[in-house]
Amino acid sequence: MPYLDHAATTPVLPEVADVVAAQLRSTGNPSSLHASGRAARRVIEEARETIAAALGALPTEVVFTSGGTEADNLAVKGIYWSRRAADPRRSRVLASSIEHHAVMDSVEWLGKHEYAEVEWLPVDHTGRVDLAALRHTVEADPSSVALITVMWANNEVGTLQSIRDIVEIALSYGIPVHSDAVQAVGHVPVDFAATGLDALSISGHKLGAPVGVGALLLRRDLNPVPLLHGGGQERDVRSGTLDTAGILGLATAVDIAVRRQSHEARRLAALHDSLVRVVIDAVPDAVRNGDPEGLPTIANFSIPGCEGDSLLMLLDAYGIACSTGAACSAGVPEPSHVLLAMGISDPLVRGSLRFSLGHTSTEADVAAVANVIASVVERARNAGLVNRSA
Ligand SMILES: Cc1ncc(COP(=O)(O)O)c(C=O)c1O
Repeated sequence: MPYLDHAATTPVLPEVADVVAAQLRSTGNPSSLHASGRAARRVIEEARETIAAALGALPTEVVFTSGGTEADNLAVKGIYWSRRAADPRRSRVLASSIEHHAVMDSVEWLGKHEYAEVEWLPVDHTGRVDLAALRHTVEADPSSVALITVMWANNEVGTLQSIRDIVEIALSYGIPVHSDAVQAVGHVPVDFAATGLDALSISGHKLGAPVGVGALLLRRDLNPVPLLHGGGQERDVRSGTLDTAGILGLATAVDIAVRRQSHEARRLAALHDSLVRVVIDAVPDAVRNGDPEGLPTIANFSIPGCEGDSLLMLLDAYGIACSTGAACSAGVPEPSHVLLAMGISDPLVRGSLRFSLGHTSTEADVAAVANVIASVVERARNAGLVNRSA
């Protein structure tokens, strides 16, 4: 089955499945003092070192979470609360207007319930944050900024941000910067220390580990207010018994994904280009969304005269899994805030379709799309005409 939805979740790597299954057979709470507990603790600490080494962080900077959503919530809310507690003037939160809901909704929640003044940073038509606008916003009153959060790679269109330039703007004012790098790790080089970031989110199931494990890389001098209270694990920032098997899976997946990154990026870029050619040849008026210099794994199109949902369902009938640009909240599709922020017109936003590639992708997946895309688009357009005349 052609699976072209790796940005939603990617298959667990076989090496990861093996180590996770083996680890699940051993018992031991990493906080227990007996031999089984100490053995589990060793697994956790080795995993922490592996992840730190792969991503340019210190082992003490790795805070394990249940995934990207939790890492984003902890960074955004926790840093906001601690910065505001230290100085009540710090109430502004600056976030890009194309963040994933895990960041966007956390920021909005702070605005509604915690007196945050939220400022959404504009992006250009490719989805890149306007750095001049960011500088202007920061410099209007730097002492009132609690934090800046800008994602490394966008999950809908694959656009990459200049994280170093963003950190540079914040650095001279001592403003912490968080980046959601859930879609970046394994696809582009990610070095936490080199960027100067204060916090960075990763998620296991986007890079070949199981769902339900992730991490926040967090500088030692930042003490976000925890979201979860309990046993005081993970620097007292994230309480809860550590998931030894999941964390081992995360470390194994990060290690493999980072070691294979440059080879995979070249392989997937070639597949990506042939996928784009196939779609544009079959549907000449299809519009590509995003920055052509973005992730080699995401190809987002708008197809005039179609509903993204119809395209998705028709492709699904041929066994091809992909996604629309629309975010689905509680089963109700909403027009993509990402595409709207990029200035794309409403009908094109509704006709958007995302193919995303990953470690199991091959030419056969592209060929499957090539075989059906023209007829799928024709049928989706006809369905649109019928719906409009009904
Ligand atoms: C950019 C981005 N951030 C955060 C998340 C949420 O991660 P998780 O599914 O691990 O909670 C996702 C997943 O779709 C994502 O693409």
